[in-house]
Amino acid sequence: MTRASLDKQPHEVAAMFDDVAAKYDLTNDVLSLGQARLWRKAVAQAVGARPAERILDLAAGTATSSQPFAAAGAYVVPCDFSLGMLREGKRRHPHMPFTAGDATKLPFADGVFDAVTISFGLRNVHDTDSALAELLRVTRPGGRVVICEFSHPTWAPFRTVYSEYLMRALPPVATAVSSNPDAYVYLAESIRAWPDQPALAARLQKAGWSEVAWRDLTGGIVALHRGRKPAEPVNP
Ligand SMILES: C[S@@+](CC[C@H](N)C(=O)[O-])C[C@H]1O[C@@H](n2cnc3c(N)ncnc32)[C@H](O)[C@@H]1O
Repeated sequence: MTRASLDKQPHEVAAMFDDVAAKYDLTNDVLSLGQARLWRKAVAQAVGARPAERILDLAAGTATSSQPFAAAGAYVVPCDFSLGMLREGKRRHPHMPFTAGDATKLPFADGVFDAVTISFGLRNVHDTDSALAELLRVTRPGGRVVICEFSHPTWAPFRTVYSEYLMRALPPVATAVSSNPDAYVYLAESIRAWPDQPALAARLQKAGWSEVAWRDLTGGIVALHRGRKPAEPVNP
């Protein structure tokens, strides 16, 4: 396993997640200092899944991020391109319809989902804009998107402390708890290189999403972006 560089190749990203699949959730909880659970609750609230709605959880990994939507009675499709993550997910949640697919070429028809969501995955996709366009394509007119991703703390002094945590504290902690610490060095570097909140909102708008807005969590360590697919024009 080689370490993925920031201009990561899709097969390197998939291999990296294959490697960490078994201990992925534990490592997340430790490295986020317990915040991961709060972030997941906020995502569930933002998506607002209702019974019988069809929800795509893209880059779902082991489908930990999919559970709140299933609990709300929605039909959730967890989709990911790491077979290691999908296998581990299927072992834990045998009844969920895990689907192998690349975010930039989704294996779904147009307009089939009421809501699409992606948690801690968009940053890893090699072509962000294609993924945003694909998410739009598979969403029904009037449907919604929620993106949960690491972002940039809004208060400058906190931003400095956090940046130090990412680059100095995270790699040794990751070495202690993870099966592949290199994946977490990549995590730190990719967070620093990711667009800030307004820049990601602009990318969503450019991809065709409307009503784009975001909410910061934990001071902006994470941001929840949301948007809506414009309704189809009514012919006079
Ligand atoms: C950090 S994990 C997030 C998993 C899950 N959403 C969660 O919140 O726990 C990121 C996932 O993105 C997936 N991924 C990265 N690039 C992808 C792509 N192009 N298509 C599909 N999945 C992708 C990886 O395989 C990995 O499982």
